[in-house]
Amino acid sequence: MTSYKELGLVNTREMFKKAVAGGYAIPAFNFNTLEQMQAIVQAAVETKSPVIMQVSKGARNYANGTILRYMAQGAVEYAKELGCENPQIVLHLDHGDSFELCKDCIDNGFSSVMFDGSALPYEENIRITKQVVEYAHAHDVTVEAELGVLAGVEDEVQAEESHYTKPEEVIDFATRSGCDSLAISIGTSHGAYKFTPEQCTRDPKTGRLVPPPLAFDILHEIEKKLPGFPIVLHGSSSVPQEEVDTINAHGGKLPDAVGIPEEQLREASKSAVCKINIDSDSRLAMTAAIRKHFDEKPGDFDPRQYLKPARENMKKMYIHKIVEVLGSNDKL
Ligand code: G3H
Ligand code: 13P
Ligand code: ZN
Repeated sequence: MTSYKELGLVNTREMFKKAVAGGYAIPAFNFNTLEQMQAIVQAAVETKSPVIMQVSKGARNYANGTILRYMAQGAVEYAKELGCENPQIVLHLDHGDSFELCKDCIDNGFSSVMFDGSALPYEENIRITKQVVEYAHAHDVTVEAELGVLAGVEDEVQAEESHYTKPEEVIDFATRSGCDSLAISIGTSHGAYKFTPEQCTRDPKTGRLVPPPLAFDILHEIEKKLPGFPIVLHGSSSVPQEEVDTINAHGGKLPDAVGIPEEQLREASKSAVCKINIDSDSRLAMTAAIRKHFDEKPGDFDPRQYLKPARENMKKMYIHKIVEVLGSNDKL
């Protein structure tokens, strides 16, 4: 058993309380490579931001659980080395799909876990979330749960709406499961293709796809039902068009990739939404820099030559999110 406290990590409790009260959101960046970890830590230190470093089940399998634990410990020590006296770094399991996986992460240095029972029947979701909460709280680890199903690109608009979180369920769910934060569905979705072109309109000036707006009415109803309760948004990458254009200009093929407009995430950050999940934007920033490098310097074959600009591009993106969208800078 390795407690996250031995690694210098923190859970989300105080962090979320301050974020909800302060009208900003904590960035939750997915990672599984050294360069992502370095870029996240550099960005958090330079902007004086708390940060959640999160790992999916697939990422944990890719990177190895033991290595990740040391990477998280390394992140804390690296932040100190960069001059941050009191880094606020969370190691979080993203989309845990079983009690056993959540327990394994808690036993191996995670300070926060998500149990994602959103696809399960309601009572089953509560039952397993509660089981995770009991084990997690005994180790002072915080738990994120999910209610409502995030839209998939294949869904019709009709089907998406029917999967939005139902505000009338949130009090019962949060009370009976005991979760510390709740991920909700209000129109965000995972990946770089969040909406089909048919679900969007086109900006007449730029010809770019404009996605349908998030369901802020549902978010506000949920806030009224659970005043001050920490809310989480998944699927919140903005899929920056300049990165998509760079990828496509250098041999990539990402037609009609579209994300969540930043103005809407800025607005959400001011509400009870206190954790915003971003993975795809990091993938795009890394891929754009590497494709450009390969195209411009076909003779390079030392990974450091192309991973360095990839790391710099991710860092730029993380800083932009922290300062210009989530507002979590200058909070340490
Ligand atoms: O929500 C999903 C995250 O973007 C993680 O994706 O399962 O491919 O690591 P992944
Ligand atoms: P994106 O695919 O929009 O980056 O969402 C990531 C996420 O929700 C991780 O849990
Ligand atoms: Zn997610």
